[in-house]
Amino acid sequence: MPNLELKKNELQKLYPINTAINNKGHLVISGHDVTELVKSYGTPLYIIDETTFKYNANEYINALKKHYDNYLILYAGKSFACKRIFKIANAMGLGLDVVSGGELYTAIKAGFNLKNIYFHGNNKSEDEIQMAIKNDIGRIVCDNFYELELLQKNAKEANKVIDILIRLTPGIECHTHEYIKTGHLDSKFGFDLEYLDVVMKIIVNSKNLNLKGLHSHIGSQIFEIEPFVDSVEILLDQCKHIKDNYNIELSEIDIGGGIGISYTTEDDPISIDKWAQATTTRLKERCKTLGLNPPKLICEPGRSLIAPAGVTVYEVGSIKQVPNERKFISVDGGMADNPRPITYQAKYTAVVANKMNSKELEKVTIAGRYCETGDILIKDIELPKVTHGDLITVFSTGAYNYSMSSNYNLAPRAACVLVNNEKSEVIIERETYDDIISKHK
Ligand SMILES: Cc1ncc(COP(=O)(O)O)c(C=O)c1O
Repeated sequence: MPNLELKKNELQKLYPINTAINNKGHLVISGHDVTELVKSYGTPLYIIDETTFKYNANEYINALKKHYDNYLILYAGKSFACKRIFKIANAMGLGLDVVSGGELYTAIKAGFNLKNIYFHGNNKSEDEIQMAIKNDIGRIVCDNFYELELLQKNAKEANKVIDILIRLTPGIECHTHEYIKTGHLDSKFGFDLEYLDVVMKIIVNSKNLNLKGLHSHIGSQIFEIEPFVDSVEILLDQCKHIKDNYNIELSEIDIGGGIGISYTTEDDPISIDKWAQATTTRLKERCKTLGLNPPKLICEPGRSLIAPAGVTVYEVGSIKQVPNERKFISVDGGMADNPRPITYQAKYTAVVANKMNSKELEKVTIAGRYCETGDILIKDIELPKVTHGDLITVFSTGAYNYSMSSNYNLAPRAACVLVNNEKSEVIIERETYDDIISKHK
C-alpha cells in the first residue's frame, strides 16, 4: 500500500484485511477490483468486506473465550444497521444492541435471536417499549426515571415480568471527542450513581421488573484500556451495594462499546486481547474482594467490528485550484453519506483506487458536493495527481457513515455492496429520486 504503514494487528489496519493492488494498479478488496465494482454498482458506493467484519468479531470472541468464558458480545447496531449485517452477526452468535424501534424492527425482520437483543436509548417512546415487551427481547436497558415508570406500566399491562439492566453514569472521563463521550457525569445518558437507591426502591417494589444487571458506556473511539477497567470496578461496587442493601445478586454487567480504531496512521488502537485480559482480570479480582459471584461480562462493540470493514468510493468531478493556495478535489458524495467530518472533525485516509501505483503525489483537499462550506471529507491529503473520473476511496467508513447518512440536498442514499472471497452482492440498494419523493404529498 503506498503511504500506508501496516501496524501490529489487523484491527489497527486502516483498510479491509484482504486488500491488495492488482497488476493494473487498481485497489482490490477480497479479490474484487474496486474499479469493476464501481462499473457494476456506481458511485458513491459503500463496500463492506464480510471477512473483515467476521475477523474483528472473532478477535473479541477469541479474546473473551481465552480470558473469561462467561460473556456476551452485542454488536452495536447503530454503527451500521441493516438486515444482512444483523444476520451475519446473529449467525456468529453475537447479540445485538438496538437503540430505536427502527433498529429493533430490522432485527426482528432479519430473524435475530430476540433473547440476545438489548434495547438502549435515553428517550424510548411508549410504542417502542411496547414493541420490545411484545417481542420478549432479552433486556431493556433502563436509562432514566421516566422510562422506569413506562417500563413498569407497560410490563404490568402486558402482564409480564421483564428483564432489565440499569444504565449508570459512572463519572469516567476519557479522551475522545466531546460529542461521543457519554460516561462523564454531565451526560444525557443514564442514572447518576447517587440515585441508585431511589431506583432500587422502585424496582424492589415492582412485580413486573426483574433487574438482571448494570450497564455503562463511557464513550467512543477510546484508545486507553484503563477507563474500561475502571468501569468494571465501578459497576461491581454498585452490584455489591445492591447485594448488601437489597439482597439481590446481579448476574451481568455490561461495559458498553467504544474501542477505537485507526482512521489515520496517527491512531493507535488498543489490542482486543489486552483489553479482554485487563477487564476480566479486574473483574475476577474485584469479585473476590467483594464476595460476589463473577457475573456475565457483556460488551457492545460497533465501530471496531464494522468500521475497518468498510470503504466508500467516490468519483472525482470538478477540481479547483485556489491561486497559491489549496487545490479542492470535489467528489460525488460528502456530508450526506459521511457526516462525521463535519459533525466532529473526524479524520480519514484515502487512496485513488485506479492509481494505486502512482508515485507522483500532491497535497489536495477532498471536498464533498453538498451546499455547506464545511462539507470537506479530508483536508490536506497527499494523493496521486487526480483528474475527473478518478476513484477516491476513503477507508474505515463502515461505521457511522451509512447509519448516519441523510438525504441532504435531496441526494439519494448510496448503495452498499457486501464483498467476500466468492462474490459481491448489493445489501442496500441505491435510492432513486422516486424513493426520495415517495413520502411527499
Ligand atoms: C450504549 C452504547 N453501546 C455501544 C456503542 C457502540 O460504540 P462503538 O461503536 O464506539 O463501539 C455506543 C455508541 O454510541 C453506545 O452508545
